[in-house]
Amino acid sequence: MPGKFALAFPILSLGLLVLATPLEQHEVAPGLIEDPLKGTSNPIPQLIKDILAGVKSAVANNAESKKPLICEDACCVWWNVSEKLTAEFRETTGECNDNARAAIRFGFHDAGSWDEKSTHGGADGSLMMDFGEIDRPENNGLQSIRTLLRSVQSTYNVSYADLAQYAHNHATVTCPRGPRLMVFVGRKDAKKAAPKGLLPDVHDSADNLIALFQRKGISTHDLAALLGAHSSAKQRFVDETKANFSLDTTPGVWDTKFYNDTLQDPKDRPTIFQLPSDKVLSVHSEVKDSWRSFIGQGKFWGEAYGKAYLRVSLLGVKNFNHLVDCTETLPLFRANATVP
Ligand code: HEM
Ligand SMILES: *[C@@H]1O[C@H](CO)[C@@H](O)[C@H](O)[C@H]1NC(C)=O
Ligand SMILES: *[C@@H]1O[C@H](CO)[C@@H](O)[C@H](O)[C@H]1NC(C)=O
Ligand SMILES: *[C@@H]1O[C@H](CO)[C@@H](O)[C@H](O)[C@H]1NC(C)=O
Ligand SMILES: *[C@@H]1O[C@H](CO)[C@@H](O)[C@H](O)[C@H]1NC(C)=O
Ligand SMILES: *[C@@H]1O[C@H](CO)[C@@H](O)[C@H](O)[C@H]1NC(C)=O
Repeated sequence: MPGKFALAFPILSLGLLVLATPLEQHEVAPGLIEDPLKGTSNPIPQLIKDILAGVKSAVANNAESKKPLICEDACCVWWNVSEKLTAEFRETTGECNDNARAAIRFGFHDAGSWDEKSTHGGADGSLMMDFGEIDRPENNGLQSIRTLLRSVQSTYNVSYADLAQYAHNHATVTCPRGPRLMVFVGRKDAKKAAPKGLLPDVHDSADNLIALFQRKGISTHDLAALLGAHSSAKQRFVDETKANFSLDTTPGVWDTKFYNDTLQDPKDRPTIFQLPSDKVLSVHSEVKDSWRSFIGQGKFWGEAYGKAYLRVSLLGVKNFNHLVDCTETLPLFRANATVP
């Protein structure tokens, strides 16, 4: 590791001399999020650093949400987007629906196509754009949410990259008990398809999956927290004879049942589908303590998820000084489905 840094620094400083505004460049030196964040102490990058360091929370469950009468800032259009997404993501029962779960997965698949060696990809909207990524087998099932989000994009002219992540955070809080995660906009859209082979394979070993996420800067604790998104999930393609089986007993609610359900004998959970990857990770020595720590601890899990997903939502992003906090435009946190 030290050797790698010694090598990287002269190259990086040469890069800084050549490029007048290195933080604004889309294709830049590879490396984890910490590198570009180091160079700035502006309020938003500082806040992001503090969240990633665990000093501040990414969860804004108690914050205000009041659309101003006269709106003139960068967040204005997101109020409109938010209204539209609420209509698309919420069932009349108050639970979150198939569009919401697909949007949660979509945000991950757009951003997750990145690792520390990538010079492009990450949270850049490429999955929503016309680069053919949607035809990759790992993105099967995301076609209709992509069509929906593209229509939102064309109505409101927001960036693809921001919309993919905004929709993830919106869908999360649309699920009852889902945390209201801080949402930043200002990402740059992709110029080409993301690199291939950087999304997790459901049949891979736990060691390989852990290593894959490590190369994105995601620890085993973060990974355990992120996999809780499967609390809202269904499957269609892993076992087609069980199409639409959910991955926990309550897919319309963002709760910790997934963590317990996954640990049970499948015979005791006949109505759900346990992904092979979730199964092997839940009992892996480096993951199992984190996994169990979330059971029945919704608030603790929400904090961990928020911190981990903030990193996911910024994979490959370098223009931190341009980001704006539009959390205020998200729907309010709901402790349960019946509260509006
Ligand atoms: C080891 C890592 C992961 C693997 C192997 C994995 C795999 C899968 C698979 C195979 C499906 C079912 C697809 C289908 O047959 O329709 C699925 C669904 C889903 N995944 Fe993951 N996933 C992983 C991590 C994540 C993460 C980090 C998130 C979000 C932060 C996420 C969110 C979702 C959601 C919300 C669904 C449900 C989609 C729907 O119902 O339309 N997954 N995942
Ligand atoms: C957003 O909504 C407001 C009303 O709340 C409306 O006046 C405005 O035209 C909408 N903007 C767009 C781009 O749809
Ligand atoms: C859409 O947004 C882009 C980038 O902000 C801008 O250049 C373009 O003029 C906008 N298009 C319309 C129709 O408003
Ligand atoms: C799965 O759900 C989708 C969307 O609700 C529906 O169109 C499809 O027919 C369902 N498939 C099965 C096998 O139940
Ligand atoms: C986990 O599931 C088992 C088996 O259904 C159940 O007995 C136990 O109470 C559950 N634990 C929690 C914390 O919900
Ligand atoms: C829903 O939340 C409200 C307010 O927190 C509470 O009074 C009510 O009992 C909850 N209902 C259920 C079914 O948990």
